[in-house]
Amino acid sequence: MSASKSTSKSKKAAQPRKRLAVLCSGNGSNLQAFLAAERRGALGPAEITLVVCDRPDAFALARANRARKPAALLDSKEFTTRETFDAALLGVLKKAGIDIVILAGFMRILTPAFVQAFSGRMLNVHPSLLPAFKGAHAVRDAVEHGARVTGVTVHFVTADLDSGPIIFQEAVVVRPGDTAASLAKRIHAVEHRLYPLAARRLAEGRVRVSGRQVTVR
Ligand code: GRF
Repeated sequence: MSASKSTSKSKKAAQPRKRLAVLCSGNGSNLQAFLAAERRGALGPAEITLVVCDRPDAFALARANRARKPAALLDSKEFTTRETFDAALLGVLKKAGIDIVILAGFMRILTPAFVQAFSGRMLNVHPSLLPAFKGAHAVRDAVEHGARVTGVTVHFVTADLDSGPIIFQEAVVVRPGDTAASLAKRIHAVEHRLYPLAARRLAEGRVRVSGRQVTVR
């Protein structure tokens, strides 16, 4: 390479860091995928700053501890209303200076006020091709329905459950003889690939939303 060429190479300006909170209720395999992505530099400017769980027995807490990530437990049993839980959650996230919220198997309906506070900055992953099979049993429902194809959706969170603008979707074929467990395994593998990438693109400022249409550059 000539000298002029090498000197004209300009370094890309560092992007501002984005502080991510990952919210989980259970196993946390998606959290694990985020941790792995961060470790190999695949989260771009996003950094996992905080893990929040609403159940003391969530395995996600152990995963956070093992990765030496700050983790907060907000035990849902200690809150009498959705509003008080969400206000406490908002307080924890604000204190940690969180820019982007990642729902990763967080089994709670969020109040409109909380959703509003992170409008355009909160993502969810759902194990179906939305709007098909909304709700908590999407994989089982797809098998029971006899669907030939289901999949994964990464979407923005809005006040309506499983209904926000879609960032990524990928189909997963339902094989003859599939059980909810065997299908869930292949769905999870897709989630673990798509979800950290969506978060990275959002953190990079490469996701534009116009009504229901999402463009990822
Ligand atoms: C995932 O299948 C996700 O689609 C759904 O909840 C599940 C969480 O799994 N929202 P994990 O706790 O990340 O293993």
